[in-house]
Parts: sequence; structure tokens; C-alpha cells
Amino acid sequence: MTLEEISNLEKRVLIPTYERMPILAVRGEGCYLYDDRGRRYLDFFGGLAVSSLGYAHPEILAIVRDDSETLLHVSNLIYHRYQAPLAEKLAGLAGLERVFFGNSGTEVTEGAIKLARAYARRRHYAEPFERYELLAVENSFHGRTLGALAATWPEKYRRPFEPLVPGVRFVRLNDVAHLRESFTRRVAALIVETIQGEGGVIPVGAEFLRTAAELCRAHDALFICDEIQCGLGRTGFLFEFQRHGLKPDVVLVAKSLAAGLPLGAIIAREAVAEAFSPGLHGTTFGGGLLQCRLALKVLEIIERPGFLKHVREVGAYFRLQLEKLRQECPVVRQVRGEGLMLAAELAVPGKEVVRRALEAGVVLNCTQERVLRFLPPLILGRHHVDELISTLKPILAALSVDQQAQEVHA
Ligand SMILES: Cc1ncc(COP(=O)(O)O)c(C=O)c1O
Repeated sequence: MTLEEISNLEKRVLIPTYERMPILAVRGEGCYLYDDRGRRYLDFFGGLAVSSLGYAHPEILAIVRDDSETLLHVSNLIYHRYQAPLAEKLAGLAGLERVFFGNSGTEVTEGAIKLARAYARRRHYAEPFERYELLAVENSFHGRTLGALAATWPEKYRRPFEPLVPGVRFVRLNDVAHLRESFTRRVAALIVETIQGEGGVIPVGAEFLRTAAELCRAHDALFICDEIQCGLGRTGFLFEFQRHGLKPDVVLVAKSLAAGLPLGAIIAREAVAEAFSPGLHGTTFGGGLLQCRLALKVLEIIERPGFLKHVREVGAYFRLQLEKLRQECPVVRQVRGEGLMLAAELAVPGKEVVRRALEAGVVLNCTQERVLRFLPPLILGRHHVDELISTLKPILAALSVDQQAQEVHA
């Protein structure tokens, strides 16, 4: 089927939740995607922060090939060899003790909200009031199910589905005074994206994070770091909370964990994990054999000497090139982010930039209407950055001229 045929069929049969880019992807290699006509695209979106080892990584493919000939699924009521070693590895890396596996970011966020409530109920059963509130941060994104959505800030996502899960209150981003005021004895947990992704790649301030962790400790509320987008090496640290020297009670990961297959994890402190017991929470597919095996390989690769250093170095080079672009093209208002989670905020909507870049063979993403968000594979090289910049420069320069002309007329 051609792109046009597929696209027409989708228009008839899919529930219309996505606006797709006009590419029919058929294969990938390294940082490049190929369409059905053999055209090559440099991918600076990385499957929405999933493809951090790039496409067709030989060590990942070897596992997929081997596994397809042995055992694809067994259910969580039977042991397999990979879940426990992966849990041990993940918990060790996060400085925590126990893990629950789910299938997606949303699912593990939802599970963490349940865990926080169960923990509060267990620890504080004698209190004369209910302790179930969840503090979330303005401009955050935690997922699409009713609990995760209740902790997600943009009204456009929440409003059509209200009433959502009750008990969520939002704290103003980086407002430490408001954070302090928001803590009452009813708070069971605070959830924060260590760098806000969908919200436009907004780093959360060190003081805000530190204070949030302290207040959680003082109130025996759980400090939950959502590292679903920014974790697992993306920012040049294994986990972004480690840059700040924090010790969360719960860490959430998903996206790149299993190299492109669905896998998420709630990583928790021992005493917190005790709030769940058999039957209290579960999922059919979470922690599947192939996913866990792949995730063990992903972590092994990320931990190899030089991997994270590479992310930091290429990230620094990339950021510098974006800063130069900002100086040359006034339509670029701000550059921000860490490692290979970067953004260029524009003065105009980014949709046209994404369209023109795709025509020129580069896959980009725009979030918050004006923010070009870069989430490339972590194996990115400097030459890929150069290729992006030489594609972006004429597009942004032309927009800068249009923009200046408009400002003169205004
Ligand atoms: C920080 C964060 N949390 C949660 C989610 C939800 O993850 P998923 O789409 O896998 O359900 C996302 C997805 O983009 C995310 O970026």
C-alpha cells in the first residue's frame, strides 16, 4: 500500500487521535528512518524519546531474533528469567529497592498514584482525616488515564473528561513559597517531571526540587520523580534527579527502557513497596520476557564507559550550535534543555518549520505550538547535528525575515 492509500484507510477506520506526518516508515538504521520509496530522514524526534539506541541496533536485533524462536509470553503468574535481574539492576541504579513493571508511562504513573494512596493509608490509618492528596506541578504532563490526567496541567487535555480523579492540586512551577504553602497533612505524594518534556523542555529549578523532597520527607509524603521522558541517559545522567543529588521515594521510567517495545517501571523504596501485596495491583503484559531482556541490554549499553559522557558532549555541541542559530535567526527566542533533551523556542508557531524540515529530510517535533523539541537517539554524532543545523538555518532565516517584516508593519 502507498502512503496515500494507508492515509485514506486510516481516515476511515482509526479513531482520530493523531495528526501524522506524511511519511510511511518501513525501516530504520542508526539515526535515520527510511520511507517506502527509500527516502532517508534524519530523526531528531527519536520515536518520542523511545529510540535512544537508534534504529536496528545490532545487539537489540540479536535478542529479538533469538527470543522470537523461544518464548514470547508467559504471564505474570509464571516465572521467567529476566524480570528479577532487571528489577535488581533498575533499583540499584536508582538507589532504591523494588520494582513493579507496567507497559507505558501512563500506566506506571497511575500505579504510582495508587501506591501513594495505599502507602498513606497503611502508614497513617489512625489519623482522623483522609490523606490522599497528590501535589503536581503546573505545566506538567504525566499521561492520559484518569489519574495521570488529573495530574497533567493543560486544561485542553483534562476538561473534556472531567470529573477526573479527585484530590490533585497544582503547585506553581519553581515557586518555592507556593510549594511550602501547598503542603498540608492531607498530602500523600508530590509528583514532578524532573525536566518537563511535553510542557516545552522546561528544567525544574534545583531549589524547587530540593525543597519538594525535603517537604515530602517532613510530611511522610512520597516524592515521585517522573523520569519517563528525561530519564535513562537522555540528559547525560542515568537519571536526571541524580544531577540534583536527590533521593526520591519513587521513580517512574518507560519510553526507551525496552528499546522500542512497551515497558514501564515503578521503582520504589522498600518501605513504600510494602504497601502493595498480591492482588492489590497488576497487569497482564507488564514485565514481559522479551521486554525485560531488551531492557537489560539497554541498561548494559547505557552503562558502558563513555556512553553518558558522549551524550553530555554531543549535547553540549548541539546546544552551542542552537545558540549560534539563535544569534543568527531572531525568530529563535530561547534555547534550553540538558544533554540530548533540547528545545528551541520560536517567536512563531513551529508547525511550518516541522513541515519544511520534513520536506528537506529531517524529522522534527513541535510542542506547545512554538517549541521545537529535540529528542534524538543518544548515539547521535556531531555530523548529525551539523546536518540538522544546515537544514534548519535557511528555514529559520526565512521565517526571521518574515517575522521582522511583520514587526515593522505592526
Ligand atoms: C513525563 C511523561 N510522563 C508520562 C508520559 C506518558 O507516557 P506514555 O505515553 O508511555 O503513556 C509521558 C509521555 O510523553 C511523559 O513524557
